[in-house]
Amino acid sequence: MSDPTRRAFLKQTTAAAAALAAGCATPSTAIRLAKRRPLIVSTWGFGKPANELALKVLQEGGSALDAVEQGVRLVESSGNTSVGLSGLPNAAGVVQLDACIMNGPGHQAGSVAGVEGVVHPISAARLVMEKTPHVMLVGPGANWFARQNGLGVRDGQADEASYRAWLARQKKPVPGKGDKPENHDTIALLILDENGDLAGGCSTSGWSGKVPGRVGDSPIIGGGVYVDNAVGAAGATGLGENVMRYCASYQVVENMRHGMSPTEACAEAIRRIARTDPKGMDLAINFIAINKKGEFGAAGTQANFPYSVTTPEFSEVRKGKPLSQATQKEGGNE
Ligand code: GLY
Repeated sequence: MSDPTRRAFLKQTTAAAAALAAGCATPSTAIRLAKRRPLIVSTWGFGKPANELALKVLQEGGSALDAVEQGVRLVESSGNTSVGLSGLPNAAGVVQLDACIMNGPGHQAGSVAGVEGVVHPISAARLVMEKTPHVMLVGPGANWFARQNGLGVRDGQADEASYRAWLARQKKPVPGKGDKPENHDTIALLILDENGDLAGGCSTSGWSGKVPGRVGDSPIIGGGVYVDNAVGAAGATGLGENVMRYCASYQVVENMRHGMSPTEACAEAIRRIARTDPKGMDLAINFIAINKKGEFGAAGTQANFPYSVTTPEFSEVRKGKPLSQATQKEGGNE
């Protein structure tokens, strides 16, 4: 066992022994939870390689923020049609990107919205957090900031052939009230590191064909992602308008603060929104969550919403619980 690995192992088993001594865990749960650090959870199956890269970054001594950034960057440059510059464009044929990042310690946050041509919006969001007194930069100012800080910035115009093909499929040139998007997926990635600290981030090209200037939930702190280092972290994917109107990731974390498991916290946020929203359950929203204890879960209005979970012990794509079964705990303490 190499020195850092050995130190991490000793730290984990010491923490497990302390939990056991304090009467908070049975022997098996103590060991199981100890093994759950670091824990990385992300949205969709395409989050799995991002999780695995994030784990490698952590194992090589990087911080949780480094791991979030590198994991999300991988998806941003993977050719995904809803994340990064390969994302589908807005109604004017321009790819506009949103991203945010949050660090549990110090409750720091940064975000960018409506950036054009920025290759890695997640890195721009991190720079906003670390280099400015602000939390959010938008549009041309955010593009300028990314360029000033040496980030790759290209022409934001979508590739002509794919734009024409996509345009031909559209029923209307600009979405109207009541219309639904063709796609709006997001990479949201959450980490509990070996020290028990939390971080998270997300990135998206948003609603394909959106009205130019539309900003979704992803860069909104408490919408796309929320991290409370004392409690847990949550991230969203789906139709941003139905997330941001309810500060839904914040709600998920608050649900965990009040004792719900991550899975139940996600499900209850959806149920609460559905109780007041005229659309009922027709919301197209999905959530992932982790808590400080190393438990994780997901729930969505999409049946079997896929999400990815990675620890040093395993890495797999799981199915979110249907809302009707979301009271079952998943991932820890079971
Ligand atoms: N959830 C991504 C978006 O709606 O923009």
